[in-house]
Amino acid sequence: TDRYAVIGNPIAHSKSPLIHSAFAQQTRQNMRYDAILAPLDGFKTAADTFHHQGGKGINVTIPFKLEAHKLATSLTERADIAQAVNTLKFVEDQILGDNTDGAGLVRDIVVNLSTPITEKRILLMGAGGAARGAILPLLQQKPAILAIANRTPQKAVLLKKQFIQHGQLDAGEYMYFAGASFDIVINATSASLNDALPALPPDIFAVDALAYDMMYSAEPTRFLKYAGQQGVCNLADGIGMLVEQAAESFYLWRGIRPETKDIISRFKKPDS
Ligand code: ATR
Repeated sequence: TDRYAVIGNPIAHSKSPLIHSAFAQQTRQNMRYDAILAPLDGFKTAADTFHHQGGKGINVTIPFKLEAHKLATSLTERADIAQAVNTLKFVEDQILGDNTDGAGLVRDIVVNLSTPITEKRILLMGAGGAARGAILPLLQQKPAILAIANRTPQKAVLLKKQFIQHGQLDAGEYMYFAGASFDIVINATSASLNDALPALPPDIFAVDALAYDMMYSAEPTRFLKYAGQQGVCNLADGIGMLVEQAAESFYLWRGIRPETKDIISRFKKPDS
């Protein structure tokens, strides 16, 4: 039995063991997937221990994605650019670091939500780790424009400078985008965690826009409630992204791409 795990802090509410167990069953892979709580200063020890005990791979979640990036002995291009790693694959003494978050986001939007990104106007809210990981995969879809809005505008402008050779980008504080409207508005801030809402200018949502919150919770986030009040009908939280990033990690480890539809709809049921 090949062993995998997710390491984070906190970890108790992680859905990853459930998702990967479902994938393993579906694709008939002989593997086991556990959740490991590491102390805040104990990521490296936990990861190394799991590796030395014969573990084949690890998912990394808050707050260890930067440390996982440091631990990797080689990186995929997308992990290198994101400067964060959510997936480690152990091959003998080598540690490959990947980041499947952005690919999971894009796949959820384009495939599951049937919302093309190509030639559309996209607003990405936030300039932290979650936003950074999304930029390259979004630009690879060739949107008309990818606007990065952040409370601290300098951080958005820095990201624009860093990614400008990969596509059409603009950056500034939220009010900088007053008067513009967007087909897809993605909340990559951590504001939802504190039930807060970044100060979006009025009329930011185009007709038939998609409002997407990378966060998920039992209750709709402040951002999704706001979008609903603005008349947006297409609302999505991050549960599809979570399942899709897991599928992408699973593929990296096992070479098989699991079917995601059933598990996503299971989570979307109100009683799940
Ligand atoms: P993560 O890894 O989740 O992206 P992070 O790197 O700490 O976390 O980034 C948090 C992001 O959420 C930042 O873009 C932050 O804006 P600032 O750069 O201005 O701090 C944004 N954020 C958090 N709380 C917010 C709030 N109440 N209003 C607006 N933006 C907020």
